[in-house]
Amino acid sequence: MILTRRNRILRQSPAIRSLVAETVLTPADFIAPLFIEEGSHTETPIPSMPGYYRRSVDLTVKEAKELWEMGIRCVLLFIKCKDELKDNTGREAWNKDGLMQRSVKAIKDAVPGMLVMTDVALDPYSSYGHDGIVKDGEILNDETVEALVKMSISHAAAGADFVAPSDMMDGRIGALRLGLEENGYTKTGIMSYSAKYASCFYGPFRDALDSAPGFGDKKTYQMDFANRTEAIRETLMDVEEGADIVMVKPALAYLDIIREIKNAVDIPVSAYQVSGEYAMIKAAAQNGWLTEDKAIVETLTAIKRAGADMIATYFAKEAVKLLG
Ligand code: PBG
Repeated sequence: MILTRRNRILRQSPAIRSLVAETVLTPADFIAPLFIEEGSHTETPIPSMPGYYRRSVDLTVKEAKELWEMGIRCVLLFIKCKDELKDNTGREAWNKDGLMQRSVKAIKDAVPGMLVMTDVALDPYSSYGHDGIVKDGEILNDETVEALVKMSISHAAAGADFVAPSDMMDGRIGALRLGLEENGYTKTGIMSYSAKYASCFYGPFRDALDSAPGFGDKKTYQMDFANRTEAIRETLMDVEEGADIVMVKPALAYLDIIREIKNAVDIPVSAYQVSGEYAMIKAAAQNGWLTEDKAIVETLTAIKRAGADMIATYFAKEAVKLLG
């Protein structure tokens, strides 16, 4: 055969493949989610997330130091609230001495350069396991947003660099920005979970924090996975309301959405490889059905290729080791 172009020329050795690779992962791409519990020196395995733990504040600080040494520059904090502190107002969420607030301070004290982001949503604090205040079986929007503003201000006061609202109430980004401005927190960023879908892939996370909804589901606030244009509308509104970073969640089943949003906005886009995505890879690997290391690198590269400027992933540490 005489061909003018042989595409295999650019694939024939590791050297040429690395020269022409369009997408390269680096440790600075990753946001490491951390689950925190009360106590000291505790490290509780999460059964549906093999190899992942919920830790007391002291061991969380140790983990943050390790992450920093590996080149990971950002953590996203989630806390497990004690049952007796849960109610329908979420008031523990803005307790200045609450577990989240203490965790932020401890990490910033120990690793000042680490970017600390905090989850903002009422579900870990809600006796109903919902992201908002419940009345007559409904999730109230505006009352919930007021609570989220108080929560965000208390995180900023504790030293959080970014608040990350994951609740999907309407108007919350504008309200959070205003609340932060009015209280002098002009350096606190907002990473908005803008296109957050009502997904079965959050199951293991809800085990980790004991935060599964007590009734119904989250479909009146999280998005329908059938929809694409709605994700763009949600995201553009968040940009207008003052988000610094927008997010698509989950990641792997929503690569089309990541790309659409990357093309539609001029601010950084993040993606969240969620607990169920982690669990699927772990489970298949444990059965010997696929090679874990390869699945980690392939999925994370695909998420970045789709348009994610950064990725929240439970594989952050493993991924950095694999990039070696
Ligand atoms: C809380 C929140 C959830 C996740 C992040 N923040 C769960 C939910 O919305 O039900 C999911 C993260 C994961 O599954 O890894 N609003």
